[in-house]
Amino acid sequence: MDVKNLFDQGVSKARGAVSSLAVEQRGFVRDLVRLCDDGYSRGWHERNGGNASYRLTAEEAQACRPYFAETPRPWEPLEAAVPSMAGECLLVTAAGSYFRNVKDAPARALGIIEVDLGGAFWRPVWGFEGDGRPTSELAAHVILHGVRKEATDGACRVVYHCHPVPVIALTFALPSDARVITRALWQTMTECLMVFPEGVGAVPTAVPGSRELADLTAAAARDHAAVIWAHHGLLATGATCDEAFGLADVVVKAAAIYREARLLCGGAEPAYPLTDDDLRAIAAGLGLAPNPAYLASAEEAAAPAAPQPSASADQAPAGASAAPGAAPDPAGE
Ligand code: 13P
Ligand code: ZN
Repeated sequence: MDVKNLFDQGVSKARGAVSSLAVEQRGFVRDLVRLCDDGYSRGWHERNGGNASYRLTAEEAQACRPYFAETPRPWEPLEAAVPSMAGECLLVTAAGSYFRNVKDAPARALGIIEVDLGGAFWRPVWGFEGDGRPTSELAAHVILHGVRKEATDGACRVVYHCHPVPVIALTFALPSDARVITRALWQTMTECLMVFPEGVGAVPTAVPGSRELADLTAAAARDHAAVIWAHHGLLATGATCDEAFGLADVVVKAAAIYREARLLCGGAEPAYPLTDDDLRAIAAGLGLAPNPAYLASAEEAAAPAAPQPSASADQAPAGASAAPGAAPDPAGE
């Protein structure tokens, strides 16, 4: 059909005919589609596991507005008003959508919602084809965007939730304690301190999609770009999809190394983790400011090291015997 013919049928119809293509082709949509696909390829999204959202810039929202529904569905109340999200638009995965299908049908697996000017209501304005709705964790996404937007002076735009095996497994071996989990991860590889010097937050087991989970995560996300949900998964945020996905990737890899290391040590805490001296040296060398609450205090550093089953004292390198965090031996749990 040529353009003249198209417009002869009316501007509105023409707009409808190109709308999904126009929005789907935009960079921010393609980035989120790629994040979903990459996460699926990693095995982090069984069935409809996980969800993701991107906060549009004012320019992106303006450019997409001509393609928004002419008669949007009615406003619905948010579980909690988020004044800092007033007037924002979010591209978000649909409830129940399978990440493996996102790239084949973005306008079905994704949609855009807008938040009203009071920050208390939302409505879908694009996508969610086939009568879809935003993720069951929409409340958490909106609250988290508000929290991370404030924590990063507006830089954070992506909230990503996935179900990676090494991270979920970690919560069977370590308590839901940000300090314990952060130390276990920091001590696996030097990259961790560089990527998340503030540490990772930890939230105990909670009902998926619940207000409780949203509120606990929001509290943890004030100081952490990544939060681990016990027996459920991981939440990672960032200014871009690359940043949020990269953060998730590093946390997952560190959790996998921790698991491997414990297996090699017969299930006990790894015998030769990075020590606090190592961590402080990395921080000093790279000009990082790690969360001081997660480094060993002078008393902890002075405390005698826990005996390690698989390493004799004369094999251990200097400083390698500091036990990580307060992580209990699995046998004692
Ligand atoms: P949704 O399909 O509603 O996004 O739920 C997936 C999920 O991972 C819930 O925690
Ligand atoms: Zn989930």
